[in-house]
Amino acid sequence: MSQRTKPPETYAEKLARLTELREAAMHSVPQGEDKQHERGKMTARERVEKLLDPGSFQELDTFVRHRTVDFEMHKNRPWGDAVVTGHGTVDGRRVCVFSQDFTVFGGSLGEVMSEKMCKVMDLAAKIGCPIIGINDSGGARIQEGVVSLGGYGNVFTRNVKCSGVIPQISLIMGPCAGGAVYSPALTDFVFMVKESSHMFITGPDVIKTVTGEEVDFEELGGAMSHNSKSGVAHLAAEDEEACLEDTRYLISYLPQNNLETPPRVLPSDDPMRMDEELDSVVPENAQKPYDMRDAIRLTVDDGEFFEIHEHYARNIVCGFARLDGYAVGVVGSQPAHMAGVLDIDASDKAARFVRTCDAFNIPLLTFVDVPGFLPGTEQEWGGIIRHGAKLLYAFAEATVPKITVITRKAYGGAYDVMASKHLLADVNFAWPTSEIAVMGPDGAVNIIYRRDLAKSPTPDERRQKLVSDYKTHFANPYAAAERGYIDDVIVPHQTRPKLITALHTLLTKREPGPKRKHGNIPL
Ligand code: HXC
Repeated sequence: MSQRTKPPETYAEKLARLTELREAAMHSVPQGEDKQHERGKMTARERVEKLLDPGSFQELDTFVRHRTVDFEMHKNRPWGDAVVTGHGTVDGRRVCVFSQDFTVFGGSLGEVMSEKMCKVMDLAAKIGCPIIGINDSGGARIQEGVVSLGGYGNVFTRNVKCSGVIPQISLIMGPCAGGAVYSPALTDFVFMVKESSHMFITGPDVIKTVTGEEVDFEELGGAMSHNSKSGVAHLAAEDEEACLEDTRYLISYLPQNNLETPPRVLPSDDPMRMDEELDSVVPENAQKPYDMRDAIRLTVDDGEFFEIHEHYARNIVCGFARLDGYAVGVVGSQPAHMAGVLDIDASDKAARFVRTCDAFNIPLLTFVDVPGFLPGTEQEWGGIIRHGAKLLYAFAEATVPKITVITRKAYGGAYDVMASKHLLADVNFAWPTSEIAVMGPDGAVNIIYRRDLAKSPTPDERRQKLVSDYKTHFANPYAAAERGYIDDVIVPHQTRPKLITALHTLLTKREPGPKRKHGNIPL
């Protein structure tokens, strides 16, 4: 029978065809799936299924195929191309997802893959829900040339347009190379998996040719390199499953978009709980370190603190917690690392976190024990002035409720920068152990009594007396409290109920700013 006279498909045949096509689309490169598993990686679809609530995934563009003919590409046109896109729910809340499929052309991005990603990003922007991108790709599809570069550009533009509108989360679960790294870099959170994910602009071979340096993939762009050295990534998960679980947890702290607030969870921790352990967190000796995370955990709901950027600039801690069920972004000086001093990396880390919280209506809680900015030519020439200014800018600009607790030192410019009253923090508490001053006692005495000490027949005794006088006058919170720079001096164990009452009071805060295109943060 000729093609022309072939009878039309019956309904049953049409259904069978659909089933067949869908099955083909679900497993376009079956041998590739085995390879992924051998490498300890999940397939693109398995990741999506693990990330979302069971059965909630609604796939889009299953039957999209590339249209490239160069390099005999027309002979290989897998359904869905190299990305799985769609939407589903995480704890019942809608999210959009794209998950790059390394089994298809190495997950490389060409024209239609870009179109699929852009379409689901546009959907997320339209309906106002987070977009989660799972990256596992060899980068620009070489066979498609400049069209794939254009495709990346279209993705980047959407990342920028969505910035501060919907939460954007990038999971790196394989290679992410060349200009491809800029889509994750533009998003709010970058989570990597140890050993199996790598991000770099140029790989080890190019580096060896150009600079002579020898470095392997893991050291160059592995999870720990980007979590601890470059600061590109915010979390290093042990494996893919943990990474996806962490992502679900992160989402619990975020609103759907910039017009909403994060969901409140039913609190199981007593809002009036007073933890006496807080009274001994700060050591008697002002030079002794302690872990600010102890103060944070003893204060927040159920001691739960989800640290972000844990391995980077450890002299400051950032993360999410809850107070009476409300999500808060916590920034804390970390006296346990470099005495909690502010340096370039700490300023960048905290500034980015503060802006993320402000963009998504997450109140800010700041714990302060800061001896100042880190001295040295490395810092000065590295631009501590403009980097420190970022943090100052971010705190001053933030209009979410801002609550600050000074636990010990708040010296010099760093006092101002760390969410002080002068940067429009709403409620500022100090513990009785606070020392709010231009600088520490020894430095201050050396400067203002230099001549006096030089003349003294007993300089050591004189110095001791002067240091002791300075401490009595300035190494306390009362000069600041006298001027209203501190709203109250509180006993440490009162911190939780005080913070929760302040937060409740501030929930209706409105702070409209002047009309302008945008500010000009010193980048
Ligand atoms: C087309 C690609 C590809 C690419 C990989 N493949 N990368 N196809 N374009 N960019 C294909 C391979 O040909 C292979 O196909 C399959 O994917 C798996 O790749 P393997 O090399 O076998 O896998 P593996 O050994 O795991 O190595 C993975 C890899 C390597 C490290 C990612 O493939 C690699 O180095 N790829 C090139 C990376 C790169 O330089 N990309 C361009 C970056 S520049 P078969 O058919 O054999 O299975 C860039 C610019 C973006 O992206 C600019 C945006 C502005």
